[in-house]
Amino acid sequence: MKSDILKLIRITKEYISMDMLKTGCNMSEGAIKTSVNQLIEAGYDIEYDKEKGYHMNSYPENISSTELLSRNNCIWAGKNIFYRKEVFSTNEEAKMIAEDGKPHGSLIVAENQVAGKGRKGRSWVSDGRNSIAMSLLLRPTFDVEKASMVKFIMALAVADVLSKLTTLDVKIKWPNDVIVNNKKVCGILTEMGTENGSIDHIIVGVGINVNQKLFSEDLQDKATSLFIEKGERYSRADIILAVLEFFEYYYDIFVDSGDLSDVVAVYEGYLVNKDKEVKVFDPKGEYKGIATGINDYGELVVQKEDGKFVRVSSGEVSVRGVYGYV
Ligand code: BTN
Repeated sequence: MKSDILKLIRITKEYISMDMLKTGCNMSEGAIKTSVNQLIEAGYDIEYDKEKGYHMNSYPENISSTELLSRNNCIWAGKNIFYRKEVFSTNEEAKMIAEDGKPHGSLIVAENQVAGKGRKGRSWVSDGRNSIAMSLLLRPTFDVEKASMVKFIMALAVADVLSKLTTLDVKIKWPNDVIVNNKKVCGILTEMGTENGSIDHIIVGVGINVNQKLFSEDLQDKATSLFIEKGERYSRADIILAVLEFFEYYYDIFVDSGDLSDVVAVYEGYLVNKDKEVKVFDPKGEYKGIATGINDYGELVVQKEDGKFVRVSSGEVSVRGVYGYV
């Protein structure tokens, strides 16, 4: 595969010989030459020396499937990658590959998303090469009731990656908005397909604001990007690969234990609402209280003004700070 060639040329500090590539990739000399030419055309600065072989001087910032596969260290996440130049919504694309029978861990990633979907029927605005729009296809064997917990795992993975990469004070607004300085830097939309009452697939859509310099007026006080917060550009490929790795790690823990018990503490470390006053918008009536944390199922535990504890589940209600979004 082309990604195997790319991987071997990249990880070899000096030059890698044609013989090494042939063995390492199990490909013919002709096929290797064709692939290397394609890589060069795509912007990879690969040098060829008759005696020594190939050497990579530099590579372009891109999120092609070849690039992502060549650097993917996961066991199952993102092992099948479907790269699209432009889509309406990566979640919609993921639904199509789900119907097509593609396996657990397949990833749709798009250069540009023009009709991104948000939670609660809202829309999500991406900005081409400055942002990440991707959807991971899962084929769990657990019960339908557990599906709603997957979004917590993704929020945790993204928060971990962004805080480690940028050292920014990254937070999670329950249930799964990843925020910096009280503004959203990542939104997550999970959708489920069922068959005879069992889960056929779950799609976890992730939008990350990476290198945007500015947001439209209506979004300016709600949305931010890593670039705006940190003044540095970040590699989308680095972020995508790290998110896959962290998600795989936390997801496998979640599947093993059957609930969020093993990750509650880490999640709560990011929870912006923890021990804060919140307003709960329950269709049966609004109320205020203190968010004390989440339980093993991802429900927000709120102590109401009368001292009673209630469990708020993410499907029915929205929660805000008393003074605004957070
Ligand atoms: C939200 O916070 O409202 C959720 C936003 C989710 C946006 C992502 S971008 C990739 C994926 N494809 C979509 O259409 N939506 C999700």
